[in-house]
Amino acid sequence: MSIKPLRKAVFPVGGLGTRFLPATKAMPKEMLPIVDRPLIQYAVDEAIEAGIEQMIFVTGRGKSAIEDHFDIAYELEATMEARGKSLGVLDHTRLAPGAVAYVRQQEPMGLGHAVWCARDIVGDEPFAVLLADDFMLGEPGCLKQMVDAYRQVGGNLICAQEVPEDQTHMYGVITPGTRDGRLTEVKGLVEKPAKGTAPSNLSVIGRYILQPEVMRVLENQGKGAGGEIQLTDAMARMIGDQPFHGLTFDGKRYDCGDKAGYVTANLAVAVARADIGDTVRAFAVDLLR
Ligand code: G1P
Repeated sequence: MSIKPLRKAVFPVGGLGTRFLPATKAMPKEMLPIVDRPLIQYAVDEAIEAGIEQMIFVTGRGKSAIEDHFDIAYELEATMEARGKSLGVLDHTRLAPGAVAYVRQQEPMGLGHAVWCARDIVGDEPFAVLLADDFMLGEPGCLKQMVDAYRQVGGNLICAQEVPEDQTHMYGVITPGTRDGRLTEVKGLVEKPAKGTAPSNLSVIGRYILQPEVMRVLENQGKGAGGEIQLTDAMARMIGDQPFHGLTFDGKRYDCGDKAGYVTANLAVAVARADIGDTVRAFAVDLLR
């Protein structure tokens, strides 16, 4: 089996972020910071660490802050330089020319539709999908762990995590086959199964390595859960044709699509920081006493 290298990543960032209103009325939810780095920056850093060379953002109206974030900020940089300040804090925000592409999803029609909007930029090669809402902390990062496993098994690889039974209706859920360490064969997939009907509690987390054939499948993918075109449904139709595995990530996931998860992630990152960790931890201990 020849395994094609992974060079491209798709970041669906067209979502409205209604759960974070009013913060996200005029600002993309992907720009919400974990301490001082936007969520989308963490996802891009994770992709760079995994060897990704081209970032493809599927955006929508009101998301131009993301384009500005990954651009040169001439006035800011010139002023910082004139004041003798290091530009190091801006590392990885200024993506190389041609290393970034934007495509617009005009209507929020689902994750599958968002990914499909990137089909011509992805072309005929495997690609990663990263959902910035799923904030993944690990060493190495989640996508790097997946790339290492992908080099051995090829095909399609999704990040998998066991979630509490009463939460499976919020996820794509895996019918697991044979297990080999952290790799699980994927026998079936169902998006947001009704309560009590999930095939397991092993769920899809927002990191994927997919073969380009999924774009062809998405082309005629009907609406699924929530009336949206679901990536999970298209992936399910590829099982059997191509190798399909789930990788349990060695690290911690924070669901930053959820307010409690977002606040928790901020706290976790803050207490681990060299600059503010001691202050925040002392405050938290005092607060909870
Ligand atoms: C999406 C996917 C779902 C996956 C989840 C992970 O759902 O459709 O399969 O389990 O991300 O975060 P969403 O959270 O966008 O509803």
